[in-house]
Amino acid sequence: GKVVLAYSGGLDTSVILKWLQEQGYDVICYIADVGQDDDFAKAEAKAKALGASAVYVEDLKKEFVTDFIFPAVQSNALYEGRYLLGTSLARPCIARRQVQIAAKEGAEFVSHGATGKGNDQVRFELTFYALAPHIKVIAPWRDNTFLTQFQGRTDLLNYARANGIEMPSGDKPPFSMDENLMHISYESGSLEDPKVAPEEDMYTKTEHYKNWPDVPEVVRIEFRDGMPVKVLSKETEESHDDPLELFLFLNRIAKKHGIGRIDIVENRFVGIKSRGVYETPGMTILRCAHLDIEGIAMDREVMRLRDMMTPKFSELVYNGFWFSPESDFLLAAIEKSQELIDGWVDVICFKGSCMAVARDSPSSLYSEKIASMESTEGYDPSDADGFIRINAIRLRAHREILMSTDRR
Ligand code: ARG
Ligand code: SIN
Repeated sequence: GKVVLAYSGGLDTSVILKWLQEQGYDVICYIADVGQDDDFAKAEAKAKALGASAVYVEDLKKEFVTDFIFPAVQSNALYEGRYLLGTSLARPCIARRQVQIAAKEGAEFVSHGATGKGNDQVRFELTFYALAPHIKVIAPWRDNTFLTQFQGRTDLLNYARANGIEMPSGDKPPFSMDENLMHISYESGSLEDPKVAPEEDMYTKTEHYKNWPDVPEVVRIEFRDGMPVKVLSKETEESHDDPLELFLFLNRIAKKHGIGRIDIVENRFVGIKSRGVYETPGMTILRCAHLDIEGIAMDREVMRLRDMMTPKFSELVYNGFWFSPESDFLLAAIEKSQELIDGWVDVICFKGSCMAVARDSPSSLYSEKIASMESTEGYDPSDADGFIRINAIRLRAHREILMSTDRR
């Protein structure tokens, strides 16, 4: 049968490619470009040399930004209070194209190189099944035949040598990385001990702290319906309005100032705690600006309801349920909440952090007149008398009960 393999050009997926052929499959390699810093031409040539019957190199950068990252911005998505979901958002994007290719090629199978202990296997496969209910999945890292043949890295290297698979050159980093245009993650290996801080030179998407400029930079971000439509640096006057271009521009600014690092222990869907270090430069600025534009343009009670959805939506994304009835439902509500979220926010970027410092909106609900200490227009302070006394009814009753039952 035909199988579409999500291929990276690395050691593991190259071994999987050969191994699938040995099992009798006709292997089509699929290389997804989600903005990672890889040599795609080299990976394509490698797949062909190893006997892939076809190789697809797919540029998913635009749809990753517009279909996955921007809805995450609109929802303020954040997992366990800190993780911006850079890998979690890329997986359904990658897997969606994979089943499209399988349909086009008439392939009955899809395959991936995610391990059996992680989140990624779940995200890939839930997307496969949600979009192509009859697809068959081959997960070598959960396959007994494969696991008996490859018990460690030495087995992989020996097999690679015997099968003409080009060896990774240079030193292997002591941890595993997953990169795309939104973020990079570092996990496992030397990072498995959460007591030990990583070396400064591990970071790739943010500058070494010694290079963070001593002068702050202010960026203006314009929103329309809760989505960024323009980014302008007030220092350099450079500006962009294309979704992908403006996102990459924010990445460059955040990189320079060291914005977007986190180092956490998180809960994987499969029940394992895992230490992860992340750099999410541009998205960190964008989330800060988006929260701020909502501050001025969003109704309080709509905000409260949307804020109840944010943790649930974030968990669904993390757990791999992007394509699900419950995510569709939440995304529809979130999109509705963004209808009047228009305007601009100025964010100051400096020495590893960012902060909104000015904003305005054509749909602003803020009234300087009503808010001002100097004015009485639109708000009669004497109305607060009854408002407070009525709110105090329960509090007074409760205190009296405590006093009369002597349980204070
Ligand atoms: N822990 C993060 C997540 O679950 C990052 C996973 C990185 N994946 C990888 N294959 N290295 O979203
Ligand atoms: C993997 O296990 O393949 C990477 C980590 C994860 O998916 O959580």
